[in-house]
Formats: sequence, C-alpha cells, structure tokens
Amino acid sequence: MNEPEIQLHDKTFVPYIHREEISQAIKKLANRINEDFEGQEVILLGILDGAFMVLSDLVKNLSVNCYIDFVKFKSYVGQQSTGKGKQLLGASLDLKDKNVIIVEDIIDTGHTLTELRAVLAGFQPKSLGVLTLLIKEEVFKNKFPVNYSGISIDNKFVVGYGMDYDGLGRHIPDIYVLKDPS
Ligand code: HPA
Ligand code: MG
Repeated sequence: MNEPEIQLHDKTFVPYIHREEISQAIKKLANRINEDFEGQEVILLGILDGAFMVLSDLVKNLSVNCYIDFVKFKSYVGQQSTGKGKQLLGASLDLKDKNVIIVEDIIDTGHTLTELRAVLAGFQPKSLGVLTLLIKEEVFKNKFPVNYSGISIDNKFVVGYGMDYDGLGRHIPDIYVLKDPS
C-alpha cells in the first residue's frame, strides 16, 4: 500500500489491512450467513461504536432478510455503584425465538463479549451467534465459539474501519497499526 502514515493524537499508525482485503473478508462472512440462514430471518446486533462500518458493509452482501439493531454495552455510570456489571443500552428488538448474530469489529480478550452473551441469552433467542471482522487469537484463547470470524491478527493495536484510538480514526476505510518505535 502507498498510503502514508497517519497521526492520531500522540501516536503514529502505518497501513496494515487494505480496504480490498476487508471487503473480501466481509463478503465471505456474509456468504456464510446467507448459507446458514437461507429461508430464515436474522437479527444483526451491532455493538457500538466500533461495529458500525462492519455492519453496514455486511448487510449490503446479505440475501437473507435481516433486522438491524445497534446497542451499547457499557459499565454503569452515575448513581449506580461501582461493580463489574454492565448495562445494555438501546436494544429495541424482541430477541425471543429469533436468530441473533452479535456483530463486532474486533475481539481481543473477549471479556466484554462473555458478559454480553450472558445478558443476551437471557432474552431466549432461538440462536445466538457471534461475528467479528478481526480477532486477536493470541489473547482471546478460544473462550467461546466465534461463529463468523474474518481476519486473525497479531496482538497489536489497530485503528480504522470503525475502530478508534481515543475517539479518532473510526472513519478511515483501511485498517492501520501502531507504528513500532524506531
Ligand atoms: N484497536 C481499537 N480498539 C480495540 C482494539 C484495537 O486494537 N482492541 C480492542 N478494541
Ligand atoms: Mg474503542
């Protein structure tokens, strides 16, 4: 790739995964969903903020009918006392007896997703799958099955295509990685 380095806040990032490779990975994931759920409906549940680009490109390649919802899954703030519980914000669809696929930009430790899966299972979906564009296998260590996994990456910090460094970088169509100190 010829794209130059980019600067976000105090850090420099270099090109890592080109938009063409991202596009191919997304198409493959969409095709697998099309096969697995042929003739059925699915609910795609995008996890904000990072998953907005993955979800928007994914659905353009789907032939199955799908509902789309976005949620945030955040630690309690304000009056709630500190504790490790998180709350689900923004969910509007009834998940009971539905095929639900959680859509993520990246899985690293998988800790948040472990909690989220438990919360969503409480809504008694017919099936509950997980889709991610990127996965850091080395830190995730197969804590639970990831049904639709796009590209496996090293344990390095990346930005772009929805992913941020302290709020910046989400709009970039390619994925960049933190430049090694030189
Ligand atoms: N970049 C941005 N957000 C993230 C990452 C990353 O590498 N891992 C988990 N969230
Ligand atoms: Mg982030």
